[in-house]
Amino acid sequence: MIGRWRAAWAALVLGYLCAAAVACAGGLKTGSTPAGTETLSVAAGADQAAVDARATFPPGPQGALIAEGYRLITQTSTLLPRNVTARMSCAACHTNAGRVPHAGSFLGLYALFPQWNKRAHRFIALQDRIAECFLYSMNGTPPAYSSREMIAMTAYIAWLSRGAPVGVGFPGQEPVRIAAGPPNVADGARLYTQRCAECHGADGNGVGLTYPPLWGPQSFNDKAGMAHLTRMAPFVRVAMPLNAPGSLTDQQALDVAAFVLTHSRPHFRANRLIAFPPQPASFF
Ligand code: HEC
Ligand code: HEC
Repeated sequence: MIGRWRAAWAALVLGYLCAAAVACAGGLKTGSTPAGTETLSVAAGADQAAVDARATFPPGPQGALIAEGYRLITQTSTLLPRNVTARMSCAACHTNAGRVPHAGSFLGLYALFPQWNKRAHRFIALQDRIAECFLYSMNGTPPAYSSREMIAMTAYIAWLSRGAPVGVGFPGQEPVRIAAGPPNVADGARLYTQRCAECHGADGNGVGLTYPPLWGPQSFNDKAGMAHLTRMAPFVRVAMPLNAPGSLTDQQALDVAAFVLTHSRPHFRANRLIAFPPQPASFF
């Protein structure tokens, strides 16, 4: 099986826009009730996957584990400083902690693993895929596969996949296709000043933990999915600008992403690739 990102990009240039305005608006909110009882609400009219995402975490230790995974995904650089050098959380790109269709959705994802990975030339588990985002998107080092942290993040994604048929997942989660091109960097630069700089800064470095950097030493590295125009443009089309998501045209999303990607970012060093921290196998 191929990942849904790769499938969606098989026919890159021509396509359709985000159909469900509700899903594109990124209008999900997170309740702030105590750990284990978080209520995750979604916009009305959303599909089955989104309805599932609204449910309250189950009580007891399993709910606590899922809530921990949710916190790790939304406060990654704060909670896992040794595993992350990018100044951002997973949720910077997996909008609302993976609960927005077409914007890094985790809905139904657990059902799509183990999955054939063309690059690695082997079947990978969800933990392998999470590890990739630690290496590239977070420019860091993944926690051990059997660590509480890795299992908590996996549990959270599994929880967002309740009811998804194994091998199928939920429909309508893949990135949108962009009908535009070729990108115009000069137009993108102008658009950046008008629509992005207020949050991400004229220097692209964002502001503290509130606004993540789009380029520079604290951003994702050059091997990350987001470092590719084919990944960033559809994300921006659906999720940005955060104060008016869905308001850019395909061409504008492509232009501004092309401009962002003209800047420098950390270079991935392959010698970090297998640096998983050792883990005592005490439970065998
Ligand atoms: C800078 C943006 C960015 C950040 C930060 C990020 N990711 Fe990702 N992630 C992506 C993109 C883009 C893809 C899909 C493209 C690809 O295949 O590389 C992806 C794919 C994934 C997938 C597979 C999704 C699928 O549909 O197959 C998982 C799981 C995942 N990320 C988990 C995480 C976790 C957990 C973190 C935090 C530790 C994280 N990501 C941080 C951008 C990011
Ligand atoms: C109102 C503030 C705001 C504006 C305006 C805005 N963003 Fe964002 N952006 C954010 C926040 C906050 C995040 C983190 C994700 C979240 O909280 O949903 C983010 C995340 C991102 C990410 C993924 C994370 C990263 O650091 O790479 C990209 C790419 C991005 N924005 C691009 C843009 C582009 C391009 C524009 C202009 C078209 C834009 N943003 C406008 C606030 C904003």
